[in-house]
Amino acid sequence: MVRMDLSALLSNIILNYLDFLIKMDKGGFMILNAANPYRPGAGRVPPELAGRSAVMSEYESLLSTVTRDQMGDRPWIISGLRGVGKTVLLNQCSREASAAGWVTIKIEASGSHSLGSQLANETYVALRKVAKLPEKVRKSFREAFSVFKAFQINIDPAGAYSFGFDVQAASGQADSGQLATDLAELLQSLGEGARAAGIGVLIAIDELQEADRDDLMALNVALHQLGQDPQPVPVIFIGAGLPSLPAVMADASSYAERMYLYRSLGLLDPEATTDALVTPARREGVTWGEDALEQVLAVSQGYPYFIQACGKHVWDVAASRTINAEDARLGIARAREEVDAGLYMARWERATNNQQEFMKAMAADNDEPSMVSELATRLGKPQTTLSMPRRTLIQAGLVYSPRRGQLAFTVPGMADFINRVLG
Ligand SMILES: Nc1ncnc2c1ncn2[C@@H]1O[C@H](COP(=O)(O)OP(=O)(O)OP(=O)(O)O)[C@@H](O)[C@H]1O
Ligand SMILES: [Mg+2]
Repeated sequence: MVRMDLSALLSNIILNYLDFLIKMDKGGFMILNAANPYRPGAGRVPPELAGRSAVMSEYESLLSTVTRDQMGDRPWIISGLRGVGKTVLLNQCSREASAAGWVTIKIEASGSHSLGSQLANETYVALRKVAKLPEKVRKSFREAFSVFKAFQINIDPAGAYSFGFDVQAASGQADSGQLATDLAELLQSLGEGARAAGIGVLIAIDELQEADRDDLMALNVALHQLGQDPQPVPVIFIGAGLPSLPAVMADASSYAERMYLYRSLGLLDPEATTDALVTPARREGVTWGEDALEQVLAVSQGYPYFIQACGKHVWDVAASRTINAEDARLGIARAREEVDAGLYMARWERATNNQQEFMKAMAADNDEPSMVSELATRLGKPQTTLSMPRRTLIQAGLVYSPRRGQLAFTVPGMADFINRVLG
């Protein structure tokens, strides 16, 4: 009897142990199967919008104040280096405005399309949505539909824009053919419609530094005019772009310096970087070991795009629910390879020999801005011969001038790449 019980007990222990091993294996296996939360790329929504709570709460309070008071406020300019999260932030602002029932118009400026025609296209998309709203809201925008039609006819006479009901183009409004005047009148009528409906209008323009100088001047004039009303209509404007954007706006109109509220987006501090990595993992029941985290903190230098790339690759190679130092080492190497090839090498290869030589000279300053006079000495060339590569590199969006006589890379880590890989 005793013998039988003992063997039953033993087999029970063995079965339990096997069960335990299977569960352990599943635990390890699950991280490979669970959806990878990290999102390296352009404009891809990160699993955690880390380090942006100050600017987001400022925006949220603006959104609620404008809705409550039914009055517009100063337009915003958000600037930052490539890959720090401007597009992601702008999209979050748009989503929140849409969720509050606002009319949202978002465009990405480009050198090949005029700001006027891009705004006409996206305003049309926004107004088509308004046309589908309940009769009461739609009625508030009656005038805005007509003013839009007048605006659009001037910009795109052949365009076929329909709302499913008859709209007569307004006469004497938004039909002057002057973008500044017409845009001001369009925004005014959209704002009046929004006010009548108890909502607001968000205009968000990404990559604003790409727009034509004349278009920027017209935009500045229109926003300036809107802001001069004793009771400005409930319109929020946000323009986003490279660190050169404030200077580009000021170059188009001198009062731009005082008209816009400027906010710059920087690299993430160690606390925000930790949040960007740890919080999404925790949601999936995965922990970052301290050593692993330290490694990503050190290599990513708070660069959001690189943080997402490291997160993704480390996750992909991790063998258990606790990410360890070896997982981090392997994943970082893969992330580095991907970012080097996709972000840095691609830009380097597009540059001419002259531009490459210029960038190499800049890289000697690491991530600090370079003095143009110093670059001339370094290259052993007269300063005047540098104006060509300087100008074309600025036009290509690879470098910008943080101050007079200085130049810096627009992509974080570019200098490091040049020194590390191209030596
Ligand atoms: N606050 C953040 N926390 C974590 N990850 C972020 C954050 N902001 C952006 N990212 C990630 O960084 C990457 C780049 O974001 P985004 O495309 O918005 O940058 P950008 O500033 O618009 O770049 P570009 O100047 O090239 O247009 C994306 O992978 C995104 O998920
Ligand atoms: Mg962007």
